[in-house]
Amino acid sequence: MHQIAKLAGVSLGTVSHVINETASVREPLRQRVMEAVEKLGYQPNQLSRGLRLNRTNMIGMIIPDITNPFFPGVVRGVEDVAYKSSYRLVLCNTDNDPAKEATYLSDLKSFLPAGLLIIPSVDSSLTSEESGPPVVCVDRRPRGWKGDIVTVANEDGGYKAARYLIEMGHRQIGVISGPSHLTNAGDRLRGFMRALAEANVPIGPEYIQEALFDRTSGYSSALRLLHLLPCPTAIFAANDLMAMGALSAVRESRLACPADVSIISFDGLDITELTDPALTAVYQPGYQLGYTAARLLLDRMNGLKDRPQEVVLKTELRIRNSVARMNVS
Ligand code: RIB
Repeated sequence: MHQIAKLAGVSLGTVSHVINETASVREPLRQRVMEAVEKLGYQPNQLSRGLRLNRTNMIGMIIPDITNPFFPGVVRGVEDVAYKSSYRLVLCNTDNDPAKEATYLSDLKSFLPAGLLIIPSVDSSLTSEESGPPVVCVDRRPRGWKGDIVTVANEDGGYKAARYLIEMGHRQIGVISGPSHLTNAGDRLRGFMRALAEANVPIGPEYIQEALFDRTSGYSSALRLLHLLPCPTAIFAANDLMAMGALSAVRESRLACPADVSIISFDGLDITELTDPALTAVYQPGYQLGYTAARLLLDRMNGLKDRPQEVVLKTELRIRNSVARMNVS
C-alpha cells in the first residue's frame, strides 16, 4: 500500500479508500491509484479485507440439484449480475437434502458473504431471520419464509397446461407431479386441478402420481399411469426431467407420442426441442429468475430497506409436437 501511495502520489488513506471502496475518491486520484495497483501487480487480500469490512465480495448460491438442466440457466442469470458488479459467486449443491443445505448455509455465513441466494431443498430449515447477510429465496418458498422471494407463476402455468389439453379434446388425463411439499410443485398441481374442475373433467386419485422432479421417477410414474384402465390419452409432467422419463415409458410400452399418449411438460428447456417428438411445455424463464433474484439481492446489499418483496415472473405455453388433438365424441 505504501508503494502504491508513493507511485500514485497520494496518501495511504486515499489508497485504502480506493481499494476497500470505503469512501468515494475524486476521479483523477482514483485513476492514479488504480494505475499504480496494476503497475505493481497488487492483489488485495480478500480475507483480511473481509475481516476489516465484516463482509467479502462473495455471493453464495445454494441450489437443490446440480444435475437438473433447469438450474444452470438460473445460475447464469445470477452470475451475469454478480460479475458485472465485481462480486464472485460460490455455488453449493444440496441434492435436496435439508441437512446438507443447513451445513452449507452455516459454512457460507462464516465466510462473511455479501449476500445469499437460495433455492431451498424440500424441507428447508431456512427462516426469515433479520440478522446476517441479505437472503433472497428463488423458485420455491420454505415453510414460514417471509423474506424476499422470486418465483414464476406456477399455479397459472399448471392451469395453462390443463386448459391446453382440454382444448385439444383430452378427457382422460394423468398427472406426474413434483414433491407435494415443494411450493412450486404444489402450485402447479393446484392450477392444473382448478382448470379440470372448471371444465368438469374428472380425474381419479390414481391418475395423479407424485414423483421427485427427476427422470427416473417420471419414468416409473408414467408406467403406472399407462397400466391404468382406461389408459390416459394425455399426461402432464410438472417438469422437463419427468416428462422425458414419461416419453421413455411411452416408447417402452410400445405406444407412440402423441398418437397414443400426449405429453405436456413444465420448464420448456431448449433440450426439449431435441426430444422426439419435441415437447410441448409451459415455459418458465430460468435465466430471468436468476437475474431478477440477483438484482433484488444487490439492491438489499446496497441498503434497500423496503418491506420484503415477492416477484412473480410469467410463464408461457410453448406448443411443439407432443400433444395430439382428440376427437371428442
Ligand atoms: O427442481 C425441480 C424443478 O423446480 C425444476 O425442474 C424447475 O421446474 C424448478 O421450478
